[in-house]
Amino acid sequence: MLEEKRILLIVSGGIAACKAPELVRLLRRRGAAVRCVTTRGAEHFVAPLALAALSGEKVFSELFSLTDEAEMGHIRLAREADLAICAPASADLLAKMAAGLADDLATAILLATTAPVLAAPAMNTAMWHHPATQRNLARLAADGIATVGPGAGDLACGEVGPGRMSEPEEIVAAAEALLAEGGDEADGRPLAGRHALVTSGPTHEAIDPVRYLANRSSGKQGHAIAAACARLGARVTLVSGPVALADPPGVETVRVASGRDMAAACRRALPADVAVCAAAVADWRLANPAPAKLKKEGGPPVLQLAENPDILAELAAAGNARPQLLVGFAAETGDAVAGAQAKLAAKGCDWIVANDVSEAAGVFGGDDNSVHLVSAAGVDSWPPMTKQRVAERLAQRIARHLAA
Ligand code: PMT
Repeated sequence: MLEEKRILLIVSGGIAACKAPELVRLLRRRGAAVRCVTTRGAEHFVAPLALAALSGEKVFSELFSLTDEAEMGHIRLAREADLAICAPASADLLAKMAAGLADDLATAILLATTAPVLAAPAMNTAMWHHPATQRNLARLAADGIATVGPGAGDLACGEVGPGRMSEPEEIVAAAEALLAEGGDEADGRPLAGRHALVTSGPTHEAIDPVRYLANRSSGKQGHAIAAACARLGARVTLVSGPVALADPPGVETVRVASGRDMAAACRRALPADVAVCAAAVADWRLANPAPAKLKKEGGPPVLQLAENPDILAELAAAGNARPQLLVGFAAETGDAVAGAQAKLAAKGCDWIVANDVSEAAGVFGGDDNSVHLVSAAGVDSWPPMTKQRVAERLAQRIARHLAA
């Protein structure tokens, strides 16, 4: 997959830069030609000589270097790349990219290149969670920058949490997936003229005017799918339960609360060429929600539940209005593939994206997912990746299927 690809590896300043030589080695083993560019900070953590020895190429670092500009030039470095990988992508580099700055060689290249860009963020947990970093990431996602990771765990700063750069193997897998999809994107907007309906987030089922039953879905996966379909040119209706996310740009977002509201909004959104049901719809609602706040003095209430409409099954049984391609998700805590196969048959959809939602997997609310695409054709297990990459890959598959 990376055979004869020209990869520009941009290494920014952070302890994870010490993994850059291993990344160069793996990329070259896959047949890629690798050129490295370091920021000033990177050179505190990785020796340019190590990168040069492993890549077999000169390492570039200065924007205003007479010799480098004469030999290669930042525009040529930007042009002669099939893919740019930023690993590690520090909080500072992400901020500069999001702002479109070009005050050093790395950022000038990133502004000048038309090649796809894959960023592997790495930073302290508090920096990762900071609203500025999250805002920058959302901006970069909207600009079409792909990301891989970060993973969670022990960080060099002694904290535990998200911020650890993905392992070199994961970055290579994400690079391969990105380049594979790029080939299919020859016309840029393969979903132009199509209508995609996407559900996302949890539902809130009222117990009384102040309390409700809900689940841990954040909407990250569903929203990313809506945004990815829109980027490929689809008109997208996103029906979302209550989430803390911004509405994706270029998408018509319908905000609902309960499963019944979501079902009604989906019915109204038809017809659609494709529907992707990523929402975690409550299977049950209160049969009779209390019209006034339940009083503690009345003792613990006995909640009588009634079944909610199954939106996915309803869409499958919509006759002429059935979307041409119907994609469900399966949230499983046991054997994800077996659960998905059972749901594929029971709900009458075409594909099911199975994911493990056990606590250890951290999928609910997290940024990463590890999915299996299950259909009548078999099971396709994807490597762990960000929800955004899952969304992009799924949108590409949808485009390819509808075009066939
Ligand atoms: O939102 P995030 O934090 O990013 O997490 C993503 C996710 C885990 C919510 C997502 O990846 C996911 O798995 N979504 C489906 C959750 C779910 O409800 O799965 P299920 O196995 O219970 O349902 C199977 C399918 O039927 C799903 O497509 C679901 O949307 C659909 N369904 C379920 C019940 C119902 N009443 N109506 C439905 O349409």
